[in-house]
Amino acid sequence: MSDMNARISAIGVVPVIKLNHPERDAAALAHALCRGGMPVAEVTFRASGADTAIRLMKEACPEIICGAGTVLTTEQVDRAAAAGAEFIVTPGFDPEIVAYCQKKGLPIYPGCTTATDYHAALKFGLEVLKFFPAEQSGGLAKIKALSAPFPMFKIMPTGGISLKNLKDYLSSPVICACGGSYMVTADLIDNQKWDEITALCEQSIAIVKEARQNG
Ligand code: 3PG
Repeated sequence: MSDMNARISAIGVVPVIKLNHPERDAAALAHALCRGGMPVAEVTFRASGADTAIRLMKEACPEIICGAGTVLTTEQVDRAAAAGAEFIVTPGFDPEIVAYCQKKGLPIYPGCTTATDYHAALKFGLEVLKFFPAEQSGGLAKIKALSAPFPMFKIMPTGGISLKNLKDYLSSPVICACGGSYMVTADLIDNQKWDEITALCEQSIAIVKEARQNG
């Protein structure tokens, strides 16, 4: 496993973050995540200031692994990389973006939910795929079914993951880490509930440990 894949897998949960006010919230959010034992973030380009958010989060907490999510164009890859993004996540499989990231040496996790997507990913030598939207696409049952013909991939599901189903996903050896926004919801961020975010991270990390001890 590559270094980045191993570091993300070791944490086990990746918060999917949409920051509407990066100048106000990015630093405090980064501290809240790190305090909660979750020094990683997928900052989504669904908000226009995503690159600013990545830069400010890294400045506040250099130890945080900060990536860009919902990346739809190579221009966004460039903006993310210039801001310090250490990995790229795309909702679907776009071979142009995958090739572009690999050329730049940036880890890329493209969204794959079908055998056809997995075939395409195989051609790029990828080790870890995002599975999105996880629950709506068949959840863990589909991930396990796809891993029979494609045992070479580890999977990072996002979409519909919460404290209720996190342990189920993480108990499967095919799962590298789970992504989710439940610990960084719009309500928690907009109302600057940093202690609650930290507590949700701590609860999540306890579940990671429990799932892996039993697994
Ligand atoms: C993503 O972009 O990966 C998802 O929107 C996260 O899904 P969730 O909000 O259901 O956790």
